[in-house]
Amino acid sequence: MVKKNACVFISGNGSNLRSLINHSRNQTFPINISLVVCNKINAKGIFYAKKYSIPYLIINTKKRNFENIVLQKLKRYKISLICLAGYMKIISKNFLKSFGKKIINVHPSLLPKFKGLNTFERVLKDKEKKTGCTIHYVNEKLDNGKNIIQKSFFISKEDNVKFLKKKTQSLEHKAFSEAIIKIYRYT
Ligand code: GAR
Repeated sequence: MVKKNACVFISGNGSNLRSLINHSRNQTFPINISLVVCNKINAKGIFYAKKYSIPYLIINTKKRNFENIVLQKLKRYKISLICLAGYMKIISKNFLKSFGKKIINVHPSLLPKFKGLNTFERVLKDKEKKTGCTIHYVNEKLDNGKNIIQKSFFISKEDNVKFLKKKTQSLEHKAFSEAIIKIYRYT
């Protein structure tokens, strides 16, 4: 099997990045993580790129030409899939068009419910019975592209923001790799 080259975009702790790296070390997993892009100089997740000797790029999104710099790198590393794994910036229409290949995102709610930020607080405030995570394609609208996979769990009385985050993230780690397998199943 010829693996595709993927790039993971992060802004924070990188637990999803770590999980994707672990899966990609398996011969039968459809992608290699060939590049990591991060928009925060102190993001903890960069540690995993360093640990596994994966090339990484730290970008300053305030620079006018930052998208071109990223696009050039993606081309150089022959990237055919971008995984947004806790990347807290909106992907511009121009970037989507110029890259022209698949971009997928992990979101900590059962989309279309609770798009945007502070999902766990809002889930609790609205007294939802269930919550979970979604892996979806990225389009020009926030948290709006076609869903690939969702995983859910029932909320218990004891759950608070911290517990919901922990439970959701452990589902995210499974869902992300399953979504990637699903995308490439018939290719
Ligand atoms: C993840 O839980 C992901 O769902 C969330 O950021 C976290 C990153 O964690 N993404 C969003 O909220 C995007 N709208 P990680 O850095 O440990 O993978």
